[in-house]
Amino acid sequence: MTMRKQLLCGGVIAAAFVVWCAGVTSAQAPPAKPQRVETTMLQLMRGIFYPAANVFFAAQTVDPATIQKAWDPAISPDPLTSSYGQWLAIENSALAMAEASNLLNLPGRFCSNGKPVPVQNADWQAWVEEMREAGKTGFKAAQSKNQDNIIEAADVVAEACRHCHVKYRDAPGGIKNRC
Ligand code: HEC
Repeated sequence: MTMRKQLLCGGVIAAAFVVWCAGVTSAQAPPAKPQRVETTMLQLMRGIFYPAANVFFAAQTVDPATIQKAWDPAISPDPLTSSYGQWLAIENSALAMAEASNLLNLPGRFCSNGKPVPVQNADWQAWVEEMREAGKTGFKAAQSKNQDNIIEAADVVAEACRHCHVKYRDAPGGIKNRC
């Protein structure tokens, strides 16, 4: 309800206004749209996890505080040199991995070979949880602005990627046996 309507409805006397306000109330809360899947697992990996992990891993070898901002940070395609660059970019990349873990569990997604993502499997769910926790560990490390902590957290992140990949990505026999 807009501020103006709220004010008017608060002081309503005329019957016409009562009807008008009732109409406003019923139009207030549109039902939430169900979550929809827009990518394959491969596209999700290439679009979110791979770039986020690369930004995070960069902090192992370069102290993010020493990274020069781009000549125009607002349009930099490199998160590290952007307006939200340096340590903030490391924080954001870790959060992207933690939050995007929810997407790994969304039903209705397919892998690149057409098989459904095995969201119902207990080991899949455990590895998604590991990925989420790894992202959170990475976030804490980034907040500490300490490269030793990042090196430890990078291990945790890399292990989370690897555990799921061993079974579901790098299956013997190639892409047709993924997922
Ligand atoms: C819960 C399981 C799971 C986790 C966790 C996971 N992946 Fe993946 N990843 C997959 C699967 C399955 C595929 C293959 C998808 C397909 O072919 O559709 C894949 C594919 C990829 C690819 C594309 C490979 C190609 O063929 O081009 C990249 C890159 C990738 N993952 C990076 C990562 C990184 C980096 C992480 C960790 C930060 C990660 N993944 C975490 C399951 C996972």
